[in-house]
Amino acid sequence: MHAMDIAVIGAGLAGISAAKALTDAGHQVVLFDKSRGSGGRMSSKRTEYGDMDMGAQYFTARDHHFRHELKHWLDQGWVAEWQPALFIHDQDGLRPSQDEQQRFVGAPRMTALSRGLLEGLKLVTETRIIQLQQQGDKAWELIDEQQQVHGPFDRIVVAAPAPQAVPLLEPAVHLAQAAAQIDMEPGWALAVSFAEPLDTPVEACFVRSGCLDWISRNSSKPGRTGNADNWVLQATPAWSREHIDTDKEEIIQLMLASFSKVMGFNLPAANFVHAHRWLYARPSADAQWGALAAPEKGIYACGDWCMGGRMENAWLSGRQAAHALLGLR
Ligand code: FAD
Ligand code: NAI
Repeated sequence: MHAMDIAVIGAGLAGISAAKALTDAGHQVVLFDKSRGSGGRMSSKRTEYGDMDMGAQYFTARDHHFRHELKHWLDQGWVAEWQPALFIHDQDGLRPSQDEQQRFVGAPRMTALSRGLLEGLKLVTETRIIQLQQQGDKAWELIDEQQQVHGPFDRIVVAAPAPQAVPLLEPAVHLAQAAAQIDMEPGWALAVSFAEPLDTPVEACFVRSGCLDWISRNSSKPGRTGNADNWVLQATPAWSREHIDTDKEEIIQLMLASFSKVMGFNLPAANFVHAHRWLYARPSADAQWGALAAPEKGIYACGDWCMGGRMENAWLSGRQAAHALLGLR
């Protein structure tokens, strides 16, 4: 196969995975992302008290291709195993819930993984693509929101979350229709930093009560430096949807009140607190598509929404889109 010019729209884990597989196969790939950085829902907020993971909290590795790739990431030092003191909180209260599952995180922050993977790849940031336009016979051009034209490209991989992928996939109607079926749920995330360590053994907690569904002690993850005691709280999809337009100050109060309730003590004053609203945090149901392909158009789509909302699935979906494009099984 001759070397092709390929555009990948979205530099989250799925887009990066596709871009890497296509580059390794000898093609010229350009990634586009609307954000200033990369990594998508793997995201870390930099603060003077340390970096906090506001999106994906950790990942597990079950598929053998992914486990093989993970070994490389561990060797590079981009990720490390995290073994938190794991708890659960439900109607019976707070108690340990240790298990045998291996969990991994980017080190020293989640985005260290995307940073590492992007080495040697071409990424254009702060560029929101709004349309694919066919130019002449088979080549595609990308139009961004400033009406700038990028390309031409022989193939396009759309790696944006489903709702954002739909308009881009319009030239491949059945792909747009598939993406339009996917409902993605919102999620509020809160970062909070305390000067003194909270008096608790909890380092991570699955919550099955109130508005939260996850609590983690960010400072307990490998490679995190600084003396502050940093925590990240995540709200349930249902509560987040109900409070989608609630003022951030109120979100902060409500989520901290739930945190205090789970912990069973009053919280000290925080040094720093920051709320982030994810409009498209996770697909509400797991599709089984792997990736989507319209080879007759040269358009492909991938993302966690093609396989289920986990980092491993995002990586596998990107790889599968690349393999479909390359004609591999
Ligand atoms: P994304 O990471 O969303 O990447 C898509 C990219 O496309 C983004 O960077 C976006 O800016 C860009 N984009 C969108 N539209 C355009 C456009 N028009 N033009 C240009 N660029 C565009 N997974 C786990 O495995 N473990 C967890 O603990 C976990 N916790 C999570 C907690 C939260 C709060 C959230 C939000 C997610 C969590 N996830 C977790 C899910 C995990 O983050 C995702 O499954 C994974 O990161 C998705 O990768 P992706 O590449 O499919 O999409
Ligand atoms: P995993 O195997 O650790 O967890 C899967 C689910 O099993 C957990 O959500 C939890 O409900 C349950 N569980 C696992 N271990 C447990 C324990 N020791 N005690 C009690 N319950 C336990 O990880 P996996 O399968 O890789 O899932 C990824 C994680 O990402 C999940 O926790 C999921 O909820 C989270 N996620 C969060 C999103 C958000 O927006 N907040 C979006 C997408 C994923």
